[in-house]
Amino acid sequence: MNESTAGPGRSSSQSATADEVRDGERPAAVRTEDLWKVFEHDDIRVEAVRGVTFRIDSGEFVVLAGPSGSGKTTLLNLIGGLTRPTDGQVWVDGREIGSLPDRDLAEIRLERVGFVFQAYNLLPVLTALENAEFTLLLRGVPAAERRSRVEKLFERIGIAGLEDRLPGKLSGGQQQRVAVARAVVGRPALVLADEPTANLDTATSASLIDLMAELNRELGTTFVFATHDPLLMERARRNVRLVDGSIVADERRD
Ligand SMILES: Nc1ncnc2c1ncn2[C@@H]1O[C@H](COP(=O)(O)OP(=O)(O)OP(=O)(O)O)[C@@H](O)[C@H]1O
Ligand SMILES: [Mg+2]
Repeated sequence: MNESTAGPGRSSSQSATADEVRDGERPAAVRTEDLWKVFEHDDIRVEAVRGVTFRIDSGEFVVLAGPSGSGKTTLLNLIGGLTRPTDGQVWVDGREIGSLPDRDLAEIRLERVGFVFQAYNLLPVLTALENAEFTLLLRGVPAAERRSRVEKLFERIGIAGLEDRLPGKLSGGQQQRVAVARAVVGRPALVLADEPTANLDTATSASLIDLMAELNRELGTTFVFATHDPLLMERARRNVRLVDGSIVADERRD
């Protein structure tokens, strides 16, 4: 499958110097302008994200909802710089990332963004601890501190004692919690979490959501979730609904 590089035939002349910080408002953690992602393969063309324009303020706790195939994962991947837009722009922390060189993008991802992938993406040859501490290792945090930070998180989300297990010997829900620990352990400014509670029982989901809500409250971490989980939707202060790659509703509650 190739990612299409040809735009959908519309102009992408939006200015990159627009309103990241407006007077009296919180800065945008994320902003997109007429963002498109088109996948093309043989004769098949999928417009996964179709002209999305929105912003997420710093410190928000937002859910992207919508049916399967509506573009939630694709939009998260665009915001996280894991996939390049076909057209349009995306800013993270005021920097337009859609056209950044790979090296700069990698640096932003490492320093600023934590990911929880829909399929966990744990490295099978590394233990739970090694998976969870990975970004800290890349940042040069000493081993003892890495272990203690991971252990505290594992304790908090109910997987204490599993530090030295390989992912293949963990249940889906346990792997999912390791993936969440990996995303938040480095205290990134922005966490993008794709179905982080999908395989968890209600009590475990609730404790993960509590942890993320606490990081949101105490550190001002911005969270963007793609989810079908009613429990998580209830806790979000904003619900953005996607259908066929477009935003069809954007509801906030206090
Ligand atoms: N790499 C790819 N190549 C081709 N098509 C893709 C690719 N990734 C996603 N798509 C298509 O883009 C559309 C949006 O997919 P996406 O994974 O973003 O949906 P989603 O809302 O996350 O769905 P789910 O709730 O099932 O996770 C779908 O039609 C999907 O088949
Ligand atoms: Mg998805």
